[in-house]
Amino acid sequence: MRLFVAVEPTPELVRWAAETAARLAPLSSGLRWLPAENAHLTLAFLGETPDARVGVAREAVAAAARDRPRFTLELAGLGAFDSWRRVKVVWAGVKGGADSLRGLAESVRAELESRGFGLERREFSSHLTLARSRDGRPEPALEQASLPPAPSVPVEAIALVKSERGSRSSRYEPLERFPLKQ
Ligand code: 2AM
Repeated sequence: MRLFVAVEPTPELVRWAAETAARLAPLSSGLRWLPAENAHLTLAFLGETPDARVGVAREAVAAAARDRPRFTLELAGLGAFDSWRRVKVVWAGVKGGADSLRGLAESVRAELESRGFGLERREFSSHLTLARSRDGRPEPALEQASLPPAPSVPVEAIALVKSERGSRSSRYEPLERFPLKQ
């Protein structure tokens, strides 16, 4: 099954993602906006994982969570990968709690790697994906736009999530949630 580790959205963040998509979609042309309930911040992407390895993945995420304290995330700033001239992903940035999020992602990755999971050596970049591009076209009106103020996100747990590709969007199913250190 296809797995990743993520910070899941609070109900307030889901409402904000829905409002954000409704406000910004009319300013864009070639984008597919993610369903608000799919909003999340990825910490590590495991990809296709044999069933027999899922228990080991759970152990790794549990070990990382036990070690890392709870914190609060503040989202702000609209950005694009690769750039506004060649848009693949439109995202909300992390303004507060970025160091804690990075530390958490590094722990999760280290625990997975020490158990033999080969992760991509892609540099961790905190973001919350809002939309993906169909064709990489520029989005100049969005570049000028701003995000509605986002609610703070208390990060009290992380989840090992199963992703199933659907025809329109992926379906995410948390397999287990692991509380962070109190
Ligand atoms: P993205 O939102 O920046 O595209 C589930 O697919 C999650 O894993 C997404 O949040 C996605 O990040 C992230 N992810 C990281 N590396 C990935 C990869 N190689 N393929 C698919 N998703 C990846």
